[in-house]
Amino acid sequence: MSQIIVLNAGGQYCHLIARRIRELGVYTEIREMETPLEEMATARGIIISGGPYSVYAQGSPSVNPQLFKLGIPVLGICYGHQLIAQLLGGKVTPGQVKEYGLAHLVVKQPVDIFAGLDTRETVWMSHSDVVEAPPPHFEVFATTGDCPVAAMGDKKTHIYGVQFHPEVIHTVSGQRILQNFVFAICHCQIDWDPKQTLPRLITAIREKAQGKKVFFLMSGGVDSTVAFTLCVKALGPDRVTGLYIDTGFMRAKETALIREAFQQLGIQSVKIVDASEEFISMLSGVYDPEEKRVRIGRKFLEVQERTLKQMYRPDEEWLLGQGTIYPDTIESGGSAQAAVIKTHHNRIDLLQELMQQNRVLEPLVEFYKDEVREIGLQLGLPPEIVWRHPFPGPGLAIRCLCSREPGSMRTSPELTRLAKSLRIDLAIAPLKTVGVQGDYRSYADLVLVQGEIPFPRLQDISTTITNTIPTVNRVVYLVAIRSGKGLWDLQGIKAGIERARLDLLRAADEMVTNFIRTHDLHSDIWQFPVILMPLSLGTGESIALRPVSSQDGMTAEFTKFPEALLQQLAHNLLSLPGVDAVFYDVTNKPPATIEWE
Ligand code: XMP
Repeated sequence: MSQIIVLNAGGQYCHLIARRIRELGVYTEIREMETPLEEMATARGIIISGGPYSVYAQGSPSVNPQLFKLGIPVLGICYGHQLIAQLLGGKVTPGQVKEYGLAHLVVKQPVDIFAGLDTRETVWMSHSDVVEAPPPHFEVFATTGDCPVAAMGDKKTHIYGVQFHPEVIHTVSGQRILQNFVFAICHCQIDWDPKQTLPRLITAIREKAQGKKVFFLMSGGVDSTVAFTLCVKALGPDRVTGLYIDTGFMRAKETALIREAFQQLGIQSVKIVDASEEFISMLSGVYDPEEKRVRIGRKFLEVQERTLKQMYRPDEEWLLGQGTIYPDTIESGGSAQAAVIKTHHNRIDLLQELMQQNRVLEPLVEFYKDEVREIGLQLGLPPEIVWRHPFPGPGLAIRCLCSREPGSMRTSPELTRLAKSLRIDLAIAPLKTVGVQGDYRSYADLVLVQGEIPFPRLQDISTTITNTIPTVNRVVYLVAIRSGKGLWDLQGIKAGIERARLDLLRAADEMVTNFIRTHDLHSDIWQFPVILMPLSLGTGESIALRPVSSQDGMTAEFTKFPEALLQQLAHNLLSLPGVDAVFYDVTNKPPATIEWE
């Protein structure tokens, strides 16, 4: 039973709240805003999450106001804070400024929820509406420059609201605030430890499978490997077949690595299907990133079903297993209110059909990446597998950028002004990439920067550009280019998904992976996408490096790679035939996503 329930108002940080509370050792689940009160009556605390809506917008998510009469402490975060104000008689107004990023919180009253905090705290904000007046009986506990009611509450009923996001790592004392709420206010007991969940997971898999066989879709990544191993442990190797489809979008030597890893574990039941030709040719003439993802997802299932039919009698009952984890479901809009950020292949329509028939087994769907790693270690998987960087299902296909037509570098009056004031060279590339601005997904311009600029300044430049020009969501820095050439010599070329381009990207990716292992940088980096951009000096293309530091993939900072090593790596990459220039992504998430598509 969940002691804390997080009501999902549709924000992308909703699951982060649950994860942070689980980190405190308290089991927490996400529920829809419309959850009947009876289902929440036994909870010890309720949190209403943030979300991309205005409380005044028609159809915006709301809760039954009787919720506040249950006698259960409630904490509203961002949208949740505004909703409490609106429903209980306070005043919410559209904000003058869209406050976004770090803010300075002044704590006016050191009440229970703020126990242990300083009078001045750094917090993370992302909102435009503000609470202008709290409801009757509520007091203002804290303010920021742009937000007169940054925190409020009714000490008697234990209903609180905070405009900022305590769950985000940038809110320095955020975890302490959640801890105060969960233990001092809601009196929760410690009841959650992913290390102790193995027996429960194994029983759950046995109950769901009920004698059926399981076909497990494997990508080679941590999640599906852990989920598969778990199923083998629960059902035995005879009932579980891993299906690893080589899409042609895998990294170098990936397939061999998978084979070897399972052989070492004594698991023989992994079937490897080479479908690369089929996948690559299917994407011929497809340039739109979303269409690429959807097609890859469909093809996955098509190949899987076909393989199934070849292997089993048609009447045999089977389940489809996959390593979906919690963030996969939220980012693709899995919850009723979630704003769609990006389609993940594991939530496409065909799969939804199987889900409706209750034929999908996703043993890790309630866990976050770090919890999955814990479970993997408990299962005895080797650390090299457990600590692998995340890799997206559609693989290198979404790192191999496509372009329908040739194009040139350009600028805009705003960008020219910025270039002048910053005294650097800036250009808009003839390419767009995916980002996440506010709670919405964007597909927007990519700015290229040239100059001798150290990382701290690049960080400022990148933020200035994306804050000043809302049509830009990503900024990359030119690290190396063929001698005598510069930014403006690059031309956008027509490019689709082809084996030769994938091979070039694979070679660059392998070089990067080996480099960071040799220089012991692998564990400092959350994930390191290498991207092929169709920007050419005539014969080749450009590479973009996108190493990020992150805790969970929901937010990320671009990694400040050691400068000398970066030069060395870029130089090595330029030596690959077909690489004309090397860029480094200097954008955080938000406003850019980790992957470019
Ligand atoms: P973004 O790019 O949205 O990525 O910042 C967040 C995390 O999700 C991974 N990712 C995917 N994983 N299928 C997956 O299994 C996908 O389609 C997909 N797209 C992004 C990404 O690599 C990062 O770890």
